[in-house]
Amino acid sequence: MIVYDTMWGSTSKIAYSLQGGLEREDIPVTMRALKTNHISDVLTDVLFSKAILVGSPTLNNGIFPTVGAFLTYLKGLRPKKRMGFAFGSYGWGGQAIGEIETVIRNLGWEMALPAINIQYLPDEEELDNLKKMGQKLGRLIKQWK
Ligand SMILES: Cc1cc2nc3c(=O)[nH]c(=O)nc-3n(C[C@H](O)[C@H](O)[C@H](O)COP(=O)(O)O)c2cc1C
Repeated sequence: MIVYDTMWGSTSKIAYSLQGGLEREDIPVTMRALKTNHISDVLTDVLFSKAILVGSPTLNNGIFPTVGAFLTYLKGLRPKKRMGFAFGSYGWGGQAIGEIETVIRNLGWEMALPAINIQYLPDEEELDNLKKMGQKLGRLIKQWK
């Protein structure tokens, strides 16, 4: 599943490119924007997902509040044996992805690949690379026992 929030659309563009790449590898993807999905429903989706990709813009040197809330609930639920991946968009400091990776690590999940942080709006080349990264993630998910 891909769970994310966005202020101006950059993080959602990243999310949709990753989804495109995963689907090229025939991985079924559950997309959950935190603006339109209740956190309890999103947590239920986590239980049925093998890999959780979490995306957040950086806001005021940290994570976006809705994604922070999601991580707080995730730390309570503590689902085991998942693959995790962090992504986000930032302007200067870009601290959000570090916060996501810390939670993934503390849950003992497999870190699929190093996080992706895109400065502001991803351009065409970056979107293409993100799709390729989605495919790579898809292959890793298929191999992962
Ligand atoms: C109110 C506000 C605060 C921000 N604070 C930071 C910050 O502390 N560090 C940073 O790297 N970017 C910061 N940004 C820049 C955003 O992370 C950047 O515009 C990003 O592309 C937004 O992604 P989105 O379109 O998915 O919302 C801030 C943006 C806004 C609107």
